[in-house]
Amino acid sequence: MPAADKPWGGRFDAPTNHFVEAFTASVDFDKRLAVYDIQGSIAHATMLAKVEVLSAEERDAIIQGLEQILGEIEAGGFEWSVALEDVHMNVEARLVALIGDAGKKLHTGRSRNDQVATDIRLYVRDEIKAIQGLLLRLMQGLADLAEKEAETILPGFTHLQSAQPISFGHHMLAWFEMLKRDYQRLGDASQRVNIMPLGAAALAGTTYPIDRHYTAELLGFSAPAENSLDAVSDRDFAIEFNAAAALIMMHLSRFGEELVLWSSAQFDFIDLGDAFCTGSSIMPQKKNPDVPELVRGKAGRVYGHLMSLLTLMKSQPLAYNKDNQEDKEPLFDTIDTLKGSLRVYADMIPVMQVKADNMREATLRGFTTATDLADYLVRQGVPFRDSHSIVGQAVRHCIEAKCDLSDLSLETLQQFSDKIGADIYDYLTLEGALAARDHIGGTAPKQVRAAAERARAYCQQQG
Ligand code: ARG
Repeated sequence: MPAADKPWGGRFDAPTNHFVEAFTASVDFDKRLAVYDIQGSIAHATMLAKVEVLSAEERDAIIQGLEQILGEIEAGGFEWSVALEDVHMNVEARLVALIGDAGKKLHTGRSRNDQVATDIRLYVRDEIKAIQGLLLRLMQGLADLAEKEAETILPGFTHLQSAQPISFGHHMLAWFEMLKRDYQRLGDASQRVNIMPLGAAALAGTTYPIDRHYTAELLGFSAPAENSLDAVSDRDFAIEFNAAAALIMMHLSRFGEELVLWSSAQFDFIDLGDAFCTGSSIMPQKKNPDVPELVRGKAGRVYGHLMSLLTLMKSQPLAYNKDNQEDKEPLFDTIDTLKGSLRVYADMIPVMQVKADNMREATLRGFTTATDLADYLVRQGVPFRDSHSIVGQAVRHCIEAKCDLSDLSLETLQQFSDKIGADIYDYLTLEGALAARDHIGGTAPKQVRAAAERARAYCQQQG
């Protein structure tokens, strides 16, 4: 395309170098913003007509043309041109082709700088809502599972060593809490996303009598951005969103790691279901937990995108710089990765099979009630440090005798401390140990059921 035919070609004599044209173009990826670009343009034209910069006929022709273009894009018939650089100029050129001179007036009082900043904010605002929807679906699945498995016992770990018996429902609700914070963090970030750059024009505002409050209202923004220089150059909202996304992926990777461990033959606590696993091309016996492994791995690229965006903005002078065109691919990939990961977990968790017998057996193997024996002695007046050491000796005895604390006879137990009575067996059982942790945030099944109830109510309130 000769430079003279480009929307900005007036001051150019020579055509753009072919490779430079492709190198500087963003249309291959920013066409994803088309629907928001059109929304923004419709609001801008409506505002321009309100302040009498455009006539009502021009406004109507522009809106009709833009709606037709949206139809063409959605139907897949729109012809994107790299020579027209980006989504904004592709749409504008098509509008001019469709409606003529009125189309050439759309760009009055704005620049691609405030246009693109507006488009991304509209896009991120929508995607945050979609991500919150997926988060809620996963949270709901966890809350339901917690309710159902409140009495199921597995070893709780510290240092990945069996520590104390816990309720499987309690474990599910730990993940719920992480995701609830993520949900809230996104809601908080979205308040700073929802500020409108439009009207800042290239950097300094515009000489037309624009009504930015009106445009903001049309687009559902809470307010126009206060400062035109900041409006066109700020990408904090994208960084903040990506940081929230990185935290979510970190949570999903921890979750994934446990699912991978639990589906191994060594743990054998869960079965993820054939629909969520794949086989090996060489080892016929294998059923691999690819989904949680892949989600665990995908956390890396989202962290990487956060670092890309931070580095992209580092040291940029005010106001808009072409560097900012590089904000899109990391942001888009973060959104796709996050949505895919949440969706696959939300589908997988409700059908995961819980192997309660294996969990119970593992809990019995790990001396997980040793703390309960120590607490018992404390209640009989033994100082905690002494009781800790007494129970340590009893555990050593069990390791040698290859048995659990609850297998020891009362006589044997009393050799370690004469403060031990026949009621000790109420505390050495897994059920006793669970039921004893009966306070808010504790693992007693009663508490877990109440917490699951609160979790479900939270999901319902949001949904
Ligand atoms: N494609 C550009 C971007 O994504 C649009 C803004 C271009 N503005 C400019 N003055 N060249 O940032």
